[in-house]
Amino acid sequence: MNKEEKGKLMRKIEKEILNNKKLPLYKDRIKNKNFPVIGEGSHSAKIMFIGEAPGKNEAATGRPFCGASGKFLDELLAHVGIKREDVYITNIVKDRPPGNRDPLPEEIESYSRYLDRQIDIIRPKVIATLGRFSMVYIMKKFGLDDKLDLISKIHGKVFSAEGGSASGGEAREIKIIPFYHPAVAIYNALTKDELKKDFAILKKFSK
Ligand code: URA
Repeated sequence: MNKEEKGKLMRKIEKEILNNKKLPLYKDRIKNKNFPVIGEGSHSAKIMFIGEAPGKNEAATGRPFCGASGKFLDELLAHVGIKREDVYITNIVKDRPPGNRDPLPEEIESYSRYLDRQIDIIRPKVIATLGRFSMVYIMKKFGLDDKLDLISKIHGKVFSAEGGSASGGEAREIKIIPFYHPAVAIYNALTKDELKKDFAILKKFSK
């Protein structure tokens, strides 16, 4: 798929999310004058980061990871010499859950359809999950159910999976690497160090 086709499909996803009144958090979005957060970065990124759901700053601007967690994510990327514009950053849930609560299973189910399509467009070599919600969703999606464990046990580990598109694209290998969510690290110096150490693995996939 060329650049134009990718851009066109991404814009289609954006339009659908903007107009889909059936989405579980649509009413909250309108009531709070928020934006959905579609994702940001290169459509031909080798590495795709998947967080949980937008926070206050993200929903106010429509940009992923632009608040406190985003600042730390930027620091982590800089630490391993990866430019933010060279990766793609998104979330499973595209609207902000009220009061920053955890996303509900039905929210993950509704919004993940868009995420699946984004993965098919970008076809990254590596999916870096941020936090346990995206770790569980992505590992199950790629048939790694039996490798699932506590994030404290498997963070920073590289899992190989079959990455053919859900819509029947050709087979290819994809790496799934679970990371702690940067928000956890803000208040926990140990997690911060672990995340920094874990991020080093991304260097070799960014070239
Ligand atoms: N936390 C997330 O999971 N995603 C964002 O975009 C911001 C904070």
